[in-house]
Amino acid sequence: MHLPTLIERKRDGGSLTTEEIRHVITAFTAGDMPEYQMSALAMAILLRGMSTEEVAALTEAMLYSGSTLTWPADAPMRVDKHSTGGIGDKTSLIIAPLLACDGLWVPMISGRGLGITGGTLDKLDSIPGFRTQMSEPEIRRVIAKLGCVMVGQTADICPADKKLYALRDVTGTVPSIPLITASILCKKLAEGLNRLVLDVKFGSGAFMKTEAAAHELAQSMVQTGRALGVRASVRLSRMDEPTGEAAGNALEVAEAVRCLKGGGPADLEAIVIDLCAAVSISSREQLVEMLHSGKAWEKFQLMVAAQGGEVSALERMGEIHRAPVIHEVKARTSGRITQMDARAIGQAVLELGAGRAKASDSIDYAVGCDQIAKTGRQISAGETLIRIHARTKTAAETAEVMIRQGICVE
Ligand code: URA
Repeated sequence: MHLPTLIERKRDGGSLTTEEIRHVITAFTAGDMPEYQMSALAMAILLRGMSTEEVAALTEAMLYSGSTLTWPADAPMRVDKHSTGGIGDKTSLIIAPLLACDGLWVPMISGRGLGITGGTLDKLDSIPGFRTQMSEPEIRRVIAKLGCVMVGQTADICPADKKLYALRDVTGTVPSIPLITASILCKKLAEGLNRLVLDVKFGSGAFMKTEAAAHELAQSMVQTGRALGVRASVRLSRMDEPTGEAAGNALEVAEAVRCLKGGGPADLEAIVIDLCAAVSISSREQLVEMLHSGKAWEKFQLMVAAQGGEVSALERMGEIHRAPVIHEVKARTSGRITQMDARAIGQAVLELGAGRAKASDSIDYAVGCDQIAKTGRQISAGETLIRIHARTKTAAETAEVMIRQGICVE
């Protein structure tokens, strides 16, 4: 196959066959297709789009570029959820153990923070000793014992995606619905799932700014999942304000622990139950009861122990990772909170050091925000709107200026 001809055809709005897409991905993974040709093709896909058949072929080719997790024929149903990323989104930490309590297997492969959005792996890394890099036999062992495991992508899973994602990141080709669909789904399908729920976010703190764009991505993922034999369902959720009341790695683990013990913020618990109900065989009431009974909390502690983490640290995350400066931002006037902008808070948390500007940056687990007041609440002048955890006084003051720009009290 002549690669320039395929690139030209896509550039001119034509379609690629399944065979051609397989050839491209095989050649690219093996290093036989140079990055400049793959970059040109990715840009042609971004500008011209792909049909459902093409996206399914691309997803499948990327899925089989490496190894996949396989399970015994009599294994319980495998389920997972994927979020397109948000601020304060710690739902995975609660969902994996809760679904495992329901008799399902949850082989959750997660990612690191991207842009202003936090990553599950970075949150887990704040638990002393916790290992997110595990071999496939280890993953299988923990799943068979507990029903859930939370790990990073292994070197053997979807190598084509790893290579293509790195290229897209530097060639302006990230925001393409076919490429995003294939990238997300190939990694999830590599888990050997039966059911998947997708939490597609839209709003100021999400990659998809509008509900229409989120809907388009959701449709693409559901159709592609269906074409490849996985029942995928979608929850569209607003990301105009952070999820829950904390954003920042250790602060979010502390809040997840609170939720696992049945005392988490109402909006966080509501999202968790919605997402679990989409893939579970239990009713919402049963899931709430399971969460409040402490079973999911017990399961989470067992999973942390199985992955080398210090269980006794879970209830002391605030002491273990204590930022030197804890600064309260107070309301200047009384009224109703009408805006608590996720983007402003996400950007401030990133700049406090909770995220990365480049892949090699290290992360400060202690910094971030908590006690984030929710929109709709009546607040009096002098009450706390949000608390900033920072390394220095200057960093806290800079964060306050950024965050105040996104707060509205009327
Ligand atoms: N997350 C992924 O894994 N891939 C994308 O393309 C976008 C978000």
